[in-house]
Amino acid sequence: MLSRIVVFASGTGSNYKKIKESIDNKKINGKIVLLISNNPNCEAVKFSRLNNIDYEIINDYRYKDEKNKNNQYQLVLKTYKTDLILLAGFMKKIPDNIIKIYKNKIMNIHPSLLPEYGGKGYYGSNVHNAVIKNRNKFTGATVHFVDENYDKGPIVMQKKIKINSLDTSESISKKVLKIEHEIYSKAVEAFCSKKIIINESKVIINE
Ligand code: GRF
Repeated sequence: MLSRIVVFASGTGSNYKKIKESIDNKKINGKIVLLISNNPNCEAVKFSRLNNIDYEIINDYRYKDEKNKNNQYQLVLKTYKTDLILLAGFMKKIPDNIIKIYKNKIMNIHPSLLPEYGGKGYYGSNVHNAVIKNRNKFTGATVHFVDENYDKGPIVMQKKIKINSLDTSESISKKVLKIEHEIYSKAVEAFCSKKIIINESKVIINE
């Protein structure tokens, strides 16, 4: 059975596109059934339209009341019989009701080697600038499950890259994004092929 995947994205959606590509190439035993975005004008929404993938806009303009907004996420995810949620550059907080219902079924990709450079304020170039400032020799990307503690859920997969003295925030960002695409697809493949076991918050991947 194909896992039914819902992607949450607010921006470019390059991770979204790469995962769709891996699905189309039969590397992932899943199907993207829906995109949820807060930003109707973002690339990720355009990509959904072009590829005939349903999308749902959930934002403060459409849902003035926080409770209605949170209920809408829940309703839509249920309607689409969601097995897995993928956060791919989603700039809004995931409501607690969703985190509870979809425990160990929400993955996120983060542009650092968590737990380093995780938590509030660490996103995009802020992460890479901090890495440069601290003269770190390595950085990388992390796929993790989302729990109620920001950027702290069980780690599914990580990959390290070396930083050289000529690297800038932009060059690191490019290199990190490349490995993000690689490990996010692999982690989703493992989930959809039921290879992931979670034992006391530790992720084991059975090959
Ligand atoms: C990535 O850097 C990811 O680590 C972070 O948001 C960015 C999304 O990029 N969570 P894209 O929209 O997938 O290109």
